[in-house]
Amino acid sequence: MPKHIAIVMDGNGRWATSRGLPRTAGHSVGSEVFRKIATYCKEIGVQYLTVYAFSTENWKRSEEEVGAIMGLLKKYLFEALEKMEQDQIRLQFFGDLSRLSPELQELAKKTREISGKYEGFQANICLNYGGRDEIVRAAREYARRCAEGKADPDALTEADFGNLLYSSGIPDPELIIRPSGEIRISNFLLWQSAYAEYYFTDVLWPDFTPEELEKAIAAFNGRNRRFGGV
Ligand code: FPP
Repeated sequence: MPKHIAIVMDGNGRWATSRGLPRTAGHSVGSEVFRKIATYCKEIGVQYLTVYAFSTENWKRSEEEVGAIMGLLKKYLFEALEKMEQDQIRLQFFGDLSRLSPELQELAKKTREISGKYEGFQANICLNYGGRDEIVRAAREYARRCAEGKADPDALTEADFGNLLYSSGIPDPELIIRPSGEIRISNFLLWQSAYAEYYFTDVLWPDFTPEELEKAIAAFNGRNRRFGGV
């Protein structure tokens, strides 16, 4: 079983449009699918699930669509807070949350703090997240420490750098899934995906099921991972 699975929740818009529905209807079903897949991951012993919910580039979408995604996140976090004892899911966020509404920032802070005590399974929601942005922020932070005389540029190791990322302390994802037929990374977990196995499927995210996840895990288990060796 991979310890850490990451997913680009892609295809919500096409799923809705093909049914004559507004794109936001796809995001709404997509958020339910996230809930289902997170619960399933916990059941089968995956330790971390990281999902791409909103990228640093997604602000280019219409105000209506951005507003709808933010509304769904708010709804999800409210419900997560209510059902926390039942779900026992530790929730974390990767990304620069300062651009979100104060209400959403507060909800994220609260869920992160309250759910921090749950052990066994953690879901990381990437919000206003970009892989390059994450690396640049870490580089700035290290440069700042060097300028203050607290760090030495030549002493920086990959492990030290990893500890400056949002994913500090979390093992790298071993399996990254992208549904909807798109075969690209789109700025997702650029540093952490160095040795990840990718799994692509044409299924759109709102149609994604635990069975689809099992197919991805089976494909992962059939791979020969060499990490640069032979
Ligand atoms: C990508 O599909 C999806 C998004 C940019 C938004 C994902 C957000 C959610 C599922 C809702 C909130 C999340 C949580 C965790 C509660 P797309 O819109 O790019 O689809 P398309 O490629 O078919 O247009």
